[in-house]
Amino acid sequence: MSKTVLILPGDGIGPEIVAEAKKVLDAINTSGSLGIEFSHGKLGGASIDEYGVPLSDETLALARASDAILLGAVGGPKWDQLDAAIRPEKGLLKIRSELELFANLRPAILYPQLAEASTLKPEVVSGLDILIVRELTGGIYFGQPRGIRTLENGERQGYNTYVYAEHEIERIGRNAFEMARKRGKKVCSVDKANVLEATVLWREVMDRLSAEYPDVELSHMYVDNAAMQLVRAPKQFDVIVTGNMFGDILSDAAAMLTGSIGMLPSASLDKNGCGMYEPCHGSAPDIAGQGIANPLATILSVAMMLRYSLDMSEAAEQIEEAVSKVLDQGLRTADIYTDGMKKVSTSEMGDAVVAAL
Ligand code: IPM
Ligand code: MG
Repeated sequence: MSKTVLILPGDGIGPEIVAEAKKVLDAINTSGSLGIEFSHGKLGGASIDEYGVPLSDETLALARASDAILLGAVGGPKWDQLDAAIRPEKGLLKIRSELELFANLRPAILYPQLAEASTLKPEVVSGLDILIVRELTGGIYFGQPRGIRTLENGERQGYNTYVYAEHEIERIGRNAFEMARKRGKKVCSVDKANVLEATVLWREVMDRLSAEYPDVELSHMYVDNAAMQLVRAPKQFDVIVTGNMFGDILSDAAAMLTGSIGMLPSASLDKNGCGMYEPCHGSAPDIAGQGIANPLATILSVAMMLRYSLDMSEAAEQIEEAVSKVLDQGLRTADIYTDGMKKVSTSEMGDAVVAAL
């Protein structure tokens, strides 16, 4: 049976990196050998320019009809002045929420070839393999009420609501425990239970769930400490599970441990394993159009897509091995360049991965 992948290049460097990822996907799906078919849509600023909204009903319908979505990145200064309700990021948040992509997997793996590119000492990061499981459709990102209101004294006040219902905590927790079972069998749940009630409940639900996973070790950590531990001794972590906002912040920190955020893929899954795949980095408008962006995070996102949504693990492994091979060859985009390596452009990197396949 054929599978449909929706391609959403988005904004900034999005189109450049997605083009390389598509090259790799085409190479592995030679003449449709894997039965993958494509549809194409717009998201973020590209969609605002065409339809006046960051996510159109047409694109949402295409997304619902596909088995997986490959996304570049959204946003840029061109749309920064727009009303918050129609900014590019709203399109991303809406597609996550409409498709109920509640489980965001963000692996931070240090390729041994890149130990020198990390800003941390090689001995602190070598062998690093962390999986951040971030809740993606709840918490303060979506909680109501929210807004900016005017108080009686005329002063304006901004407000948001941090909410988590038990079922939301439970399903992301389950996901983390299941993932841990397939790896180091440790889950660290990150919260702020010393201050925030929403996360007191979070901790309670994680403890309850833990009884169903006696083979997995559960620990709890406050988010401020987790931020510190990530840069102090990151190898203590196996799976980290946390809410939407803490996950957003910690995953950027974890990304940098690996040398460059340009290396980090991500998967956002619904309860059936349908998902959206995107690099963890943003649209990097400052380097868009220069052909210097690192396409590897997006290429590795394709590998995650093959594994989690398309049931093609073998093809996923081939891509991951090809990425490792080009790093062995000394090829580096500017963000991961160190002395003695060969600096390549976005498309040269894509071509090299295809050649290594
Ligand atoms: C991410 C991004 C998004 C988020 C933005 C672009 C809305 O930072 O995917 O981490 O905050 O979730
Ligand atoms: Mg982020």
